[in-house]
Amino acid sequence: MKNLVEEKDGKLYYNGYCLVDLAKKFGTPLTITFLDIIKERILSLKEAFENAKKATNYSGDFIYLNANKANYGKDEIESAFIFADGLETSSFYDLVLSLKMYEKYPLFHDKLIVCNGLKQDDYLDAVVMAHNIGYNIITIIDDIYEYEYLKKKGPRLKIGLRVHLSSLYEPEVPDDRFGLMPEEIEYILNDVKNTNLVLNTVHYHQRGFDFEEEKFFKNFDIAFNYYIKARKMYDTVTYFDFGGGTPLPIEGGFDYEAYAKSILTHIQELCKNNNVAIPNLISENGKYSQKDSTVNIYKVVGTKNTGEYPWYIVDSSLLIALPEMYALGEPMLIKPINNLNEKMVKARLAGITCDCDDVYFDKSKGYFEIPDKDDDYIALLGTGSYQNSMNGKGGVHHCMLPEEKDVIIYYKNGVELVKVRKELQTIEDIYSILNIKH
Ligand SMILES: Cc1ncc(COP(=O)(O)O)c(C=O)c1O
Repeated sequence: MKNLVEEKDGKLYYNGYCLVDLAKKFGTPLTITFLDIIKERILSLKEAFENAKKATNYSGDFIYLNANKANYGKDEIESAFIFADGLETSSFYDLVLSLKMYEKYPLFHDKLIVCNGLKQDDYLDAVVMAHNIGYNIITIIDDIYEYEYLKKKGPRLKIGLRVHLSSLYEPEVPDDRFGLMPEEIEYILNDVKNTNLVLNTVHYHQRGFDFEEEKFFKNFDIAFNYYIKARKMYDTVTYFDFGGGTPLPIEGGFDYEAYAKSILTHIQELCKNNNVAIPNLISENGKYSQKDSTVNIYKVVGTKNTGEYPWYIVDSSLLIALPEMYALGEPMLIKPINNLNEKMVKARLAGITCDCDDVYFDKSKGYFEIPDKDDDYIALLGTGSYQNSMNGKGGVHHCMLPEEKDVIIYYKNGVELVKVRKELQTIEDIYSILNIKH
């Protein structure tokens, strides 16, 4: 994987761009998305699996899906769609948006659509409609209701079974509210032959970030046993979908080819021992595709001394920018980006909201190191996944702080293109959302 972060002449570079130069050019608070990182991520994982397939003589395909839920930006999904083998959706709305992408690119008509999430009638009806138009769509059954509903619809819809991972089976597996219980899977396996539905996939998803190999294969095996069982009953079962959670070690340096080889050889062994055919492998990549494509940049606009270390206050809100870190405790990279050759001070960062939780420092040390200057800027690296939906992009934010100016950078036919997608949110924008006339 390409190393994105570099330090040169006291400045931080990301994806080859000097971040403080971008901050000065566009102003802060600023969000910059490098769309080509999405492409690079997709192509490099596909290449790692292709190389691993050759090295292990793996006969199945590796299918890379973009998990749209990570970022609903049109440009982000489009960048992923062009290079991925298809899209993974998680709601009715997500499917409608995906179908728009398929309409825009008729050449990609056959790329796969995999539908996850708990499905109500609108979502299921949209699946049937997409199938009838001729899209290559698989509904992953998350609940018996979905199965019974689709059974009544008639067409030869392709379905998958989402396996519920539970601490009931493995104490270390966190309880997950999704998927089918063993008796429900048993019921579908015995019943599906009496229906028009075509069972072709076994699916599971586990959350992941840093790769924990032992835990990964423990969960993998629970789900794969269902593939073995289903495949023995139905030749139509040709896909094993291992969901998202593709490793994304925060400081880089992960060997994706070794990771791919370990998965493929593991499957080969399980299939050989159980005398079943090798499946095609589906991977649904949210964070891996999107996270590192975006950085947020803020300027330090003031300092305040109320404790052991001074507060360095930035011109927006860290709490709003990093919902994953505040709500879920996920690690994020936060770095000063200029004056890096200067003396450092121990400080703490704070956003400009009125919220006492809008602060950041290294919890183990109690401080954050920042240059001892009065024109410091900081960047949050890797804000491209889940932030937009979790912080309500386009909405009214904490203390009515304006949303960052939104810029995209990408290359077309070797030419760099820079577009301002949205200017810094204005008070008029905010009033109009709140329906306030002035
Ligand atoms: C079913 C499913 N697939 C894929 C993903 C994407 O996971 P990640 O962003 O870790 O790649 C998720 C995330 O919640 C999911 O629920």
